[in-house]
Amino acid sequence: MTWCTGDPTYDTLLTVALAYAAFAAVASVFIPSPYGRFASARFGLNLSPRLGWFLMELPAVPVFCWFFFTGPRWSEAVPLLFLCVWLLHYANRGFLFPYLIRVAPGATTSFSLLVVVAGWGATALHGYLNASWLSTYGAHLTTAWLTDPRFLAGLALYLVSYGLTLQGESIQRNLRTSAELAAGQRVYRIPRGGLYRWVTSPCYLTELTGWAGFALATWSPGGLFIFAISCANLVPRAFATQRWYRQRFPDYPPERKALIPFLL
Ligand SMILES: NC(=O)c1ccc[n+]([C@@H]2O[C@H](COP(=O)([O-])OP(=O)(O)OC[C@H]3O[C@@H](n4cnc5c(N)ncnc54)[C@H](OP(=O)(O)O)[C@@H]3O)[C@@H](O)[C@H]2O)c1
Repeated sequence: MTWCTGDPTYDTLLTVALAYAAFAAVASVFIPSPYGRFASARFGLNLSPRLGWFLMELPAVPVFCWFFFTGPRWSEAVPLLFLCVWLLHYANRGFLFPYLIRVAPGATTSFSLLVVVAGWGATALHGYLNASWLSTYGAHLTTAWLTDPRFLAGLALYLVSYGLTLQGESIQRNLRTSAELAAGQRVYRIPRGGLYRWVTSPCYLTELTGWAGFALATWSPGGLFIFAISCANLVPRAFATQRWYRQRFPDYPPERKALIPFLL
């Protein structure tokens, strides 16, 4: 199958990836991914969230690096710049974020192995499609691209979103006190501050704007794929999370939207 780059392997895997995103979009509406507040024993073995997140994101860096450094243009300025963006993103998502998760010792595990395995498919495709585009197929990614408005706007959007994601994740992880964690309690509180003033799931919002920025800045099918699959995962989950908070907290701020301030 050739329809995007002319390389049958790339184009076939791109088709598989987009079909996977469409499948995830439908599945997520009916079954919230079983981790965290939506964890369930129904889906088999559960891991600790720290291990689950770490394992799920693990393929992103080696798969990306393998296909990036075996491409002919890996040493050019623009591909190297996006390598830095990738490493910045996965330094948080793959390592810092799992490491900093605050888990009660001996608490019930809450990250399904199924999510890890399903995540590997998405993460590996994401790494391959983006790395190959950056160092092999993205012919427009020369130094002239550095002044293109798509690159400038996309990179700015990515970096602002990344900063806001770090802020939101920090607010979320500090909702439980050390005493609660020491006592093995899994307490949930209403998050406040930052973008939580306006939306229930600000990290989902900034994850989506971040990948939209990445897709714009790379002008790539791999960027489109990660944006699409993130929408598939996070838009239904944002609405499920909103319902979850409203059911449990009678004082939940009524004006707070699920995902997009003042709108949705
Ligand atoms: N691109 C994608 O497709 C994709 C998909 C999923 C997630 N993500 C990103 O990954 C990041 C984390 O996602 P997530 O928020 O869904 O992870 P999460 O595992 O549900 O939450 C992260 C941590 O915060 C705790 N927590 C959450 N809400 C809390 C509350 N109200 N009170 C006390 N503790 C609370 C959780 O505890 P428990 O584990 O005990 O619930 C967990 O330890 C986000 O930035 C998200 O955008 C991206």
